Amino acid sequence: MIQQQTVDAVKLGDAAIDENTKAMLEKLKIVTVIGSGTMGNGICHVFAQSGFNVHMMDINQAAMDKALVTIGKNMDRQVAKNTLTEEAKQQALSRISTYTDMAQAVKDADIVVEAATENIDLKIKIFQQLDQLCPEHCILATNTSSISITRIGSYTKRPGKVIGMHFMNPVPVMKLVEIINGYATDADVTNTVHALSTYLGKVPCIVNDYPGFISNRILMPLINEAILSLQEGVAGVEEIDTIMKLGMAHPMGPLQLADFIGLDTCYSIMNVLHMGFGNQKYAPATLLANMVQAGFLGVKSGEGFYKYTPGSKELVVSDRFKNKGWKI
Ligand code: CAA
Repeated sequence: MIQQQTVDAVKLGDAAIDENTKAMLEKLKIVTVIGSGTMGNGICHVFAQSGFNVHMMDINQAAMDKALVTIGKNMDRQVAKNTLTEEAKQQALSRISTYTDMAQAVKDADIVVEAATENIDLKIKIFQQLDQLCPEHCILATNTSSISITRIGSYTKRPGKVIGMHFMNPVPVMKLVEIINGYATDADVTNTVHALSTYLGKVPCIVNDYPGFISNRILMPLINEAILSLQEGVAGVEEIDTIMKLGMAHPMGPLQLADFIGLDTCYSIMNVLHMGFGNQKYAPATLLANMVQAGFLGVKSGEGFYKYTPGSKELVVSDRFKNKGWKI
């Protein structure tokens, strides 16, 4: 169902880009983003702000309504900081249309960025549908944090046009886009996605398709090691996070970051590394597995290593981990 009409195509006139890049980007008029959760709405935000017509697609209209409110609120932060005008905010929001029907959402798409739940079977199903419904020239990108691009591409008839476009959370703030080349990804698709990421104001880094790529091959074992340290009673939640924040200048400690990413996502990425490399060093911590099993998923469920109260920014360690740590 179409909720709003889109307006002009992306305008590249003012951007400082060379002619080749301009020609590549001018072909991208309509971007469809599949999924309206945290990553999906952040991706819609940055595309709309950069002048693209964005088709947001989700099976759940209420989730998209919520996503539009979130995008508006996040743009308000930028307006408050004078990094976006109220007028530009309104224009960006007017470029986003919502769809519950995939065929409608993608029929004119030049690039699709899939940001659905991190589940291999679901992604394969979505890419098979996209392959049938999207125009032939359309690039099929996935925001997966660890699932093989080569594998996803192999379920389509256009593996050369399948690529990883991995944004980081919060998408409007984090500068990186990790671009993942599947084994069969065409070079011109990689070049287009690289130029596009730069145009969105991001810094793209191109990597190859190995489990966890680079970001999560390095980040997740760090988080898992922090959880193992907690499990073994080497130190408590606050000590582990403070050591990494103040000693290594990380903006969040690894346990807070795990809560922020979602413990279910961390667990599933560790399983991808563990199975993909067949190496015991990537085995997920039992504490992580238990917390996921019990539904303590971090910010999204209200409790993980910390306890979250809506509207409060205070960081409160979960009662389950209070007074545990150095007193072994
Ligand atoms: N949209 C727009 N702006 C936002 C925002 C959002 N969703 N969230 C925060 N901001 C802005 C704020 O307005 C603020 O702007 P100014 O600097 O201009 O004042 C700035 O970001 C900082 O926000 P806050 O003051 O609210 O809070 P903070 O200083 O604690 O920073 C944070 C919050 C940016 C999230 C910071 O803690 C951080 O960088 N954390 C680490 C994030 C990280 O590692 N992300 C990657 C996770 S891994 C991943 O995403 C991929 C994966 O595969 C698992």
